[in-house]
Amino acid sequence: MAIRDIINDTDPQLRKKSREVTEYDVKLHKLLDDMYDTMEEADGVGLAAPQVGILRKVIVIDTGDVFIEAINPRICGVAGSQISVEGCLSVPSNNCEVSRPMHVMAEYFDRNGTKVFKELSGLDARAYCHEIDHLNGVLFYDREYKGLQD
Ligand code: CO
Repeated sequence: MAIRDIINDTDPQLRKKSREVTEYDVKLHKLLDDMYDTMEEADGVGLAAPQVGILRKVIVIDTGDVFIEAINPRICGVAGSQISVEGCLSVPSNNCEVSRPMHVMAEYFDRNGTKVFKELSGLDARAYCHEIDHLNGVLFYDREYKGLQD
């Protein structure tokens, strides 16, 4: 277990797309353990592998409500919406409002390669969407909510 450095949004790595995980091995487990430690140390609710410089589809979330390790995560359904202020460990001292689904149906693999379906709501759904964005090179402020447009 180790704390890894979190890169910030001036680093072009955060704009790249991550690749699928194909090996559910000790290297993946080490990455997951380190990401968890790094997220807790930084007092965050989620972290994506690109934030520690690894362009692989791996995210961890700990909202206090749920703890998730998600490999190759997808969103296979959404319902409702919520608008709330969002931040990111890679974007210190910047927050803005972002609209996200209120509920998401999450589909991912756990650390052993077993497929999981999980329904997430509220902050859990928000964190899941935020971390998946990182895997596509998208940052939360790209989605800043500016109110209803004409
Ligand atoms: Co983030």
